[in-house]
Amino acid sequence: MFRRTLMASVAVATLGAVSAHAQTIGFSQIGSESGWRAAETTVTMQEAERRGIDLRFSDAQQRQENQIAAMRSFIAQGVDAILVAPVVATGWDSVLEEAAEAEIPVVLLDRMVDSSPDLYLTAVGSDLVHEGRVAGEWLVEAVDGADCRVVELQGTTGSSPAIDRKNGFEQGIAGADNIEIVRSQTGDFTRTRGKEVMESFLQAENGGANICALYAHNDDMAVGAIQAIKEAGLKPGEDILVVSIDAVPDIFQALAAGEANATVELTPNMAGPAFDALEAYFADGTLPEKFIQTESRLYTQADDPAAEYEARKDLGY
Ligand code: AHR
Repeated sequence: MFRRTLMASVAVATLGAVSAHAQTIGFSQIGSESGWRAAETTVTMQEAERRGIDLRFSDAQQRQENQIAAMRSFIAQGVDAILVAPVVATGWDSVLEEAAEAEIPVVLLDRMVDSSPDLYLTAVGSDLVHEGRVAGEWLVEAVDGADCRVVELQGTTGSSPAIDRKNGFEQGIAGADNIEIVRSQTGDFTRTRGKEVMESFLQAENGGANICALYAHNDDMAVGAIQAIKEAGLKPGEDILVVSIDAVPDIFQALAAGEANATVELTPNMAGPAFDALEAYFADGTLPEKFIQTESRLYTQADDPAAEYEARKDLGY
């Protein structure tokens, strides 16, 4: 069984064998389901290049079995470290144990797993529950006591952001008896599914007349849903409030057009802190904190969304 002490001895064993930083790092990415995901991939590649790291990239196309196969391939190649953005939270124990046996540190990016923390070096991500709570608290304030029936577009079933953002939002609206989640379904973090599921919500809720607000676990699903709302003859942002998470350029365009109301930022730069942690680890065996938290903040129509769009539009989203 891989334990923290073993992790420490991995560090010591590896010192001297590898120069000041990891030279070859495997990166198992989930896929390209959202603008945010594309930006994370771009930033990770840019960060690796800037630091002289040979990054071996594998796109799992949303499938956990592809991620596990990629990680096994990285282990067979003898990479110095592995980054993985785990598509779902369960089912990682075996491959993480194999990486530990091979003395290859693993860093989780942006999503969590339910394995023992002893099986990975660190995880870089945001407080996903906090993101959902911020979205819920924003809605409580926005409706100011008026009755509000909410529809929710969840992220990929079984993924940590879908679980935590749902819980966080429910915490955010807890105590506001005027707000009720009336429908909740996965849109798999994609624009296409977000639109399709929103169409079914609109149909089931009197053409949308019974919906006061949409909460989407990411901006891409919100953008798809905004299209569905418009096609149903309603005004997103007015007839139906829209709050989501990520802060991608397209949602700032929607905010600027008055078609979305709020988004909670998730930085795509998870790789920077991950590479910093690996650098320190390989330099002298420094063990990072088990969770390196990135910052998130709320943006609304009052935060100059047109300028935010301009600032982000060329960043790889
Ligand atoms: O894990 C982070 C989430 O994954 C992002 O919010 C979403 O856009 C992506 O697909």
